[in-house]
Amino acid sequence: MTEDANKAPSSDGFVPVGTVADIPPGGMKCVAVDRERVLLANVAGTFYAIRDMCGHRRAPLSAGTLDGYLVECPLHYAFFDVRTGKFVDGPASADVAAYEVRVEGDTVLVKRPTEP
Ligand code: FES
Repeated sequence: MTEDANKAPSSDGFVPVGTVADIPPGGMKCVAVDRERVLLANVAGTFYAIRDMCGHRRAPLSAGTLDGYLVECPLHYAFFDVRTGKFVDGPASADVAAYEVRVEGDTVLVKRPTEP
């Protein structure tokens, strides 16, 4: 993450979390948005963000594997769609939250999670 990515959140709730170069296509990482762990994924050049906590037993999804749009939980192998946070298969029963992502120049921004 560069210093530019540490700028204060914009007034519309988007928070800079890193640069485009931080996550190559097919990659993902955990970033912090406020105090929330967020999984940021790059699928073929498009960035997606979901809560970095499995809907089953709360494992960090960013420690799993990404195959296309599907992230596999490292603990009991549930699958979630990184575009929507929807549970796809496995032992989980709950979706995970998905967040809006915006790219401005070289900076990736994630919309701040809001309370339900
Ligand atoms: S914690 Fe993710 S499938 Fe069990």
